[in-house]
Order: sequence, then C-alpha cells, then structure tokens
Amino acid sequence: MNTGTVGIGRGHPRLEGPAKVTGTARYAAEYPADGVAYAWAVQSSVAKGRIVRIDPTATLAEPGVLDVLTYENAPRLHSTESAELFLLQTPQVHYRGEFVALVLAESLEAAREGALLLRVDYDTEPHSSLLTEHHPGLYRPEKVNPSYPTDTALGDFEAGYAAAEVQLDQTYRTPAYHNNPMEPHSATARWLDGRLLVHDSSQGSTLVRDTLGRLFNLPAETVRVISAHVGGGFGSKGSPRCTPVLAAMAARHLGRPVRLALTRQQVFGPIGYRTPTIQRLRLGSDADGRLAAICHDAISQTSTGVEFAEQTAVLTRSLYAAPHRRTTHRLTRLDVPTPSWMRAPGECPGSFALECAMDELAVACGMDPVELRIRNDTDVDPEEGLPFTSRNLVACLREGARRFGWADRDPTPGVRRHGRCLVGTGVASAIYPARTAGAHARARVEPDGSYQVSINATDIGTGARTALWLVAAEALAVPGDRVTVEVGDSDLPPAFVAGGSFGTAGWGWAVDKACRELRRQLAERHGGTVPAAGLTVQVDTMTDVAEQPRYARYAFGAHFVEVRVDVDSGEIRVPRMLGIFATGRVVNPATARSQLIGGMTMGLSMALHEEGALDHRFGDWVNRDLATYHIASCADVEQIDADWVDDPDERVNPLGIKGLGEIGIVGSAAAVANAVYHATGIRVRELPIQPDKLLDRLPTT
Ligand code: MOS
Repeated sequence: MNTGTVGIGRGHPRLEGPAKVTGTARYAAEYPADGVAYAWAVQSSVAKGRIVRIDPTATLAEPGVLDVLTYENAPRLHSTESAELFLLQTPQVHYRGEFVALVLAESLEAAREGALLLRVDYDTEPHSSLLTEHHPGLYRPEKVNPSYPTDTALGDFEAGYAAAEVQLDQTYRTPAYHNNPMEPHSATARWLDGRLLVHDSSQGSTLVRDTLGRLFNLPAETVRVISAHVGGGFGSKGSPRCTPVLAAMAARHLGRPVRLALTRQQVFGPIGYRTPTIQRLRLGSDADGRLAAICHDAISQTSTGVEFAEQTAVLTRSLYAAPHRRTTHRLTRLDVPTPSWMRAPGECPGSFALECAMDELAVACGMDPVELRIRNDTDVDPEEGLPFTSRNLVACLREGARRFGWADRDPTPGVRRHGRCLVGTGVASAIYPARTAGAHARARVEPDGSYQVSINATDIGTGARTALWLVAAEALAVPGDRVTVEVGDSDLPPAFVAGGSFGTAGWGWAVDKACRELRRQLAERHGGTVPAAGLTVQVDTMTDVAEQPRYARYAFGAHFVEVRVDVDSGEIRVPRMLGIFATGRVVNPATARSQLIGGMTMGLSMALHEEGALDHRFGDWVNRDLATYHIASCADVEQIDADWVDDPDERVNPLGIKGLGEIGIVGSAAAVANAVYHATGIRVRELPIQPDKLLDRLPTT
C-alpha cells in the first residue's frame, strides 16, 4: 500500500482507515473475552445524601443476573487520591447521577433489566447546584489547571482603566458543555494469575495503568491497559475515568471478565463536562483602540469531592499588549458531578468572552475589528516578558481577511439583507499553548529491512498513528511500507496522554530521536548491515524537554464567519467559516485540516446549540441525549475551510511542530457571535445564541 517516499508535510490517509470502515478495528467494548459478564451502572436518584438501604431482591431474581456490586460488597480500593475514582466505597452521594451500584449479568439485557429493578433508599440533604457570581461559597483556588497561577497582575489596572478614553465593562456567560465522543466510555477487564488486563477507551493508557495499580495496590508491571482504537475523547478520556475502575472491580468480584459500556445518557455527568462560566471583561483603550488596561475575572464551578479549576482567563495573559492588566479565577464547590477536561479547557470559554469584548471595543472605537487586533499585537508575552518561539497572529488575520473578502466591510450592524435574512460577518483571534512533554520511544530494525516504532501514544481518531508513521519514515529515510507504528498499549514505552495538543510534537520528537539513533548505531556500530538478531534502540526525551530554553510557546489563528439570521424565525445559518492558523510545521495536512475544521465546528456548535441545562430543583441535567442536547451536524455549516500560514519555528522543538487539536475551537464561538451582532445589531453575551434571544429585537419585515 504505502510504497514510495512518505514524510512530514505529505498528506496521507489514516493507516487504520480500512480497518475502521470494515469494522475490524476493535474498540474497548469489542474485545472478545471468554465467559465475559456484562455490567450496567445504576445512578443515584438524589443530589446529596446517603444510601440507607439497598434491596437487591428483585434484581437478583431476574434470570441471568449474577450479582449486584455496591459499597457494601465491592472490592476495597487502596487509594483515595481521587474522590471521583473512589467508587462504590461509601454510602455517601455527592451528586445526582453518581454511580451507586453495578448490576452484573450474563447478558447486557439482563444487566439492564436488573438495574431497573434495583431498589435504593436514601436519606437526602439539601443541595446547591446553581453557579452565580454571588454564590456564598466562591473562593480563590491555590492554582488553576493544569498549574497556572490563579491570579496575575501587572501595572495598575484600576488606574489604567479609569484613565482610558474608551471603557468597556461587560459580563459573558457560557453554560455547561458535555463531551460527546462517538464512542461512549467503556472498558473490558479481566484478571489472570494476579495480573489485570483492561481494554479501556482512554486518551492515555499509561496513566490509567498507574492509577489502577494504585487503586488495587498492584505493581504497575502487573497491570496492562490497551487503548488501540478510541472513538474520540475531547478531554473526557484524558484522565482515568470510572469505567476501567468499575470493570476491574467487577471482574475481581466475579472472577471472570467484565464489560462495562456507558450509555449515551450516562455520559452526561459521571464522566465530566465543561464547567459553566461567568466572565467579566474590562477593556480600556485610547480612541484609536490601543489597549491600556485589560482585566478578565472568571468564575466557574467544581464539585464537593474534587477541585477542578478551569483556567478560563489564562489566554488573556498572552494574547494582546497592554501595560495595565489583571486576571482572576474564582471557584465554588457545588453538589454536582466534577467538571473535567473538554477541548481547549480554559481557552475555549475564555476566548468567547475576550474576543466578543474585543469586538465590542472595536465598535466603541469605530474601528475595524481585524485592525483593532493587529494594533494590539505584541512581540513579547505581555505578562512573562518572554519572546515567542514564533507569533504569526497578524499573518493569520491578514491572510484570513484576504481570503474571506473582508476588505471594504461596512461596519454598520443590521443593514445587509439576503432575502428574509440579515447578513453579517465576524472575526476572532485564537491562541493555544504549543506544549511538549517528554516521552519514551523504541525503534527496531529486522534483518529483512523492516522497521517497527513503538510508543504509547494514543490515536483517539485524530490520525496520530499516521502522523508518527510519517515522522518515522522521514527520520529513517526509508519507504513507508517498511515501517510499522505501534501505539495504544501501556506495555509500550510510556508517553504523555493525547491531550493538551501535546501529542504530535512530543511523541514525534521521541520517535524522531529513536529513529535517528537507530540509524546512527546501524551505521557506526554495524557498518550499515542489520545484525542477524535485528537491532533495537530505546530513547527518551525527558531531559531534552526539561532543558528547553524559556520562550512563550503558542499556536495562533484567526476565524472569519458569515451568518444569516432569519428575521421572522431568528434562525441563524452559517454559510461560511474560514480559519487560518499558525501551527508550526504541519505533519499530515489531511488530518491536520480535519482537526482544525472539527474544532471550528465544535465552536459553532457551542455558539448556536449546545447547552447543558441543570434543573436546580433536582440538581440534575434535563437534557441528557443527542435529541435534546443539540450538537452541530454537517448541515449546520455550509462552507467550512481551514488552512495555515507559513510558521517556521525552530525554537518550539526540534521538529518545529505545534499541536493543533484544540486551537480550532478557540475563538470560533466568538467569531459566530460577532457575526450575529454585525448581522442584527444584537449583542448576545450568554451562549448559546438561540432564536429566543434574538426574536423580540429583530426588525419586522
Ligand atoms: Mo484535551 S481537553 O487537552 O484532552
């Protein structure tokens, strides 16, 4: 199949594509296991309280039901490191929907029926589930995710803002968002001679292995976790989740393999979600739009058991110049499931507020919003004072404006018509950290001239396997059909999770290093001839990464969006979206474009559709399936394109790669909201922008 030269920058379809479309690629719940039993999770029907009685009589009478696992009989866990993973250990209920029991049966149907018949009685306590800026529990966390300072300040914001000619002070709100990967969370677990083998739908099986080891008090080498194919994650499978823990507990309890696959409805809550946010933005500038003062105050929620502090305002620390600046984060603990990672955590909701505020400032200054952003560009990170490895935000804005046809845009809102629709365009900037993590990788050559590269990277549908194969083929300087890449198994050399846009840059670095070291040893020690036993090298980049010089490391981008708003119905259509990005060296243009378009579409979805609605009487999600929690589909965007500018970056890492899994969603929702304002003159500061927020203010025809 893959003869001839392949390498970085040459597009290639996913290597596992044929296996996926023919159904031979196995996902976590699809691995055959002799004597497998099925588990069905039972969820708490109260938001806060304590289980006082569990009556399994009817469940156990159901044909095929094997047992019911509860806090009374579940295997004891040895680590309390995460309250979220301390499952079935206490009668306490922390949120409505928490898993309180697992019904185990010979068939999935029997397990489900048994779960319906399980009777659980609770003592309830009053709960608090509504996030407001006046919540009495608001506090200042020690740090925000993953390890940023909670608050920052430079100059004198109050004075700078007070003295500014133009002042903008607005509050923006985003609701909860639920990660909905196509493959809900699932795991198949089995114990064999004291060893634990788990097939888990995870973004990083090394981390899952280590966590299971601690929870079950096992040496890491006796646990193996495989995540060969994963149907999406978006962060929700980034840290170890409940599914492998519950499956492993059940398998130990029964003494046979157990399979647990969450339903779509069960994904809404127990596996995490993006916290709602309340964000106050204050911008002070001169009449020409030059920023003097920026302040971004962000509020979000966490659960009673775990502190998850979304880094909502951190992008405001690096995106625009201004001498006087401040960012703050406040959090409150509610009786809700713990929020978790979701594509571009922090930057995604934060950019909605900042980039809408910039649009409002442009209007207040009578300036073009592209020019306003260019005017506030900066050569050094405004808070850290560090130079950027490369910063091509202005190039993205200019190239995007050119290709979108932005020139001569009439800034007047609410005046362009297309039939029954008002038409408008919007822009927003994007920034996302270009991080790298150290990794281990192995490269091996056989006497027949074939190569194998092994690294515990995870391909969650992004094309990571293919990207690493391109990196390896280039580093080995051999045709692609002589190289195979092995990923997704904790028995392979360990590497960081597929998250934070770390993957291709960090894993690629280790793969490149292993391949070059193999070539070097082959040439220098073996005269270019492969020894009869083959040759294997293993390297790591832990020190290389730790010793990287200090720079501000970011990818950039610019979004351009056109909307049409039906004046009678308030329906918003998006005929055009264009994203131009600066993401260093692009390894596989085909899958890179897919990642960027995917992020942009997810931002569109956030702008117009997605809203996790909590009924505060019950502390529970009202919409918990794809019929009621709306996600943008192909029909929701007509023309969408993503491309990139030249962004050579020799400082970011040896391969010049910046991750691009998340930057596509950063700013995307703001560009849509700004286009809606331009079309209608209506500024919606609370997502999603559904027709009811426009209808009573639209012109009548
Ligand atoms: Mo992503 S939210 O960094 O897995």
